[in-house]
Amino acid sequence: MADGGTHHPFLTGETRRLFIDGALVDARSGETFSCVNPSTGAEVARVSRGGAADIDDAVAAARRAFDGEWSRWKPFDRQSLLLSVAAAVDARFDELARLETIDMGAPLARTSTFRRWIQQTLRFYAAQAVSIRGDVFSNSVPGDFMSHSHKSALGVVGAIIPWNGPLITQLWSIGPTLATGCTLVLKPAEEAPLSSLLMAEILASAGVPRGVINVVPGPGPTAGAALASHPDVDKITFTGSTLTGQKIIEASARNIKRVQVELGGKSPNIVFADADLAAAARGAAMGCFNNTGQVCYAGTRLFVQREIYDDFVDQVAKVGAGFKVGDSLDPATQLGPLTSQAQLDKVTSYFDIALADGAEIVSGGTRLGGALSGGFFVEPTVLKHVHNDMRVAREEIFGPVLAAIPFDTEAEALALANDTTYGLGGAVWTRDIGRAHRVTRGLRCGMAWINCYGVTDPSVTFTGARMSGYGVKGGPFHVDEYLHAKTVWTHIGDA
Ligand code: NAI
Ligand code: MG
Repeated sequence: MADGGTHHPFLTGETRRLFIDGALVDARSGETFSCVNPSTGAEVARVSRGGAADIDDAVAAARRAFDGEWSRWKPFDRQSLLLSVAAAVDARFDELARLETIDMGAPLARTSTFRRWIQQTLRFYAAQAVSIRGDVFSNSVPGDFMSHSHKSALGVVGAIIPWNGPLITQLWSIGPTLATGCTLVLKPAEEAPLSSLLMAEILASAGVPRGVINVVPGPGPTAGAALASHPDVDKITFTGSTLTGQKIIEASARNIKRVQVELGGKSPNIVFADADLAAAARGAAMGCFNNTGQVCYAGTRLFVQREIYDDFVDQVAKVGAGFKVGDSLDPATQLGPLTSQAQLDKVTSYFDIALADGAEIVSGGTRLGGALSGGFFVEPTVLKHVHNDMRVAREEIFGPVLAAIPFDTEAEALALANDTTYGLGGAVWTRDIGRAHRVTRGLRCGMAWINCYGVTDPSVTFTGARMSGYGVKGGPFHVDEYLHAKTVWTHIGDA
């Protein structure tokens, strides 16, 4: 069966089309591309291949929608719409989770947990919709003047997202778009466009007006680049690699777009000898291996105090080896495949690079064969005797590969942790509260965790530092990035 036994209409062989101006349309080129189930390597769907001409159509539709009634909707009406969207998404959540699992490979054990997260997200933005406010300034000019700021929707937003968690990532732009009255052109990654296309239909069924949310899957260098440089797009939100982020920032200069970028990482996870070591071992393993290591803030550099280094690294390897790796549709599976052949090739190449640079493979380090040989599976891998200047400690691998590095003192741990060009996440495990805060203050990153790893919530700011990007997603300031604040001066005059 072509769809692996799922019977979803998205997987029947009919081409999944672009969603532009409230309608399903073919790509202007007539071209399509293939969606592959990474657990089996088999094609599961064909999708219209959007290009620059389709991006033009989508941006024009988004502009018409923005210039029409939509941007005049009252906050209460946008909030009501977001709550209707939340209900509609919940009603079809199982379909979304299954499609995501088949398309990008995260196991059902993971995607099924998104139900709560999605509801939190949509309801958070529903609350934001009625919480937008400007400021009244004090000023010192002679005479009697009042100055205040007035906030309005920014305009047409382009969102370019990766394949490692599109069901979550797309909502980071859909939520604030609907909360503020902006309009959106979403370009999902070629590797995993299906949940975004189904979402577009669900949003329309929940009453999102035509043109407000458009979804155009297509290649990065054509569709993505056209969106990033489009003169009628006011803002780009991008999640993905640092290299592509740099291109997007350059392209944004054409019309001085606002940009928010969340890029790669090589986040440090620092374990002191006084920590709760059982909890730290689980945290270190899940902090790196979760989603098969395809997480932007994965804790891929594990710094361990030297006196516990050997035992602790063995413990982490044991936790890693205990995860059930398998077909993502098997409910017992904890870790699925990598998303693509390209990721498989990249990740396995780092096993050779690690050995050539003098690291030791404690566990994992191989592609899985047997019943899993058709898919893109690798074992959770722990590398020992890693030096912070080896390639496996400097480059984002984006697979389940943990580089364990010893340290002696707190100062050394911090210096090593910050010796990277990235700055997304970071964590410290210790029972010494002063040290916990000294280290998190010293880390040059956007998000730091103490005695936990990778906790996120849509109502808490998610952000990066250095070459991991700038701008925020979630939290109380996210909607500001979708708003234009105009300053207004009033001469009150004399009585
Ligand atoms: P990528 O950054 O090239 O792709 C992400 C998105 O950008 C996709 O939608 C893609 O179509 C689009 N894109 C690509 N080139 C573009 C361009 N010139 N203009 C506009 N949009 C463009 O990442 P890719 O190739 O999927 O993965 C390569 C590596 O990037 C991974 O191995 C990983 O290291 C890193 N990556 C990091 C992510 C993160 O969240 N930190 C997410 C995905 C990839
Ligand atoms: Mg796929």
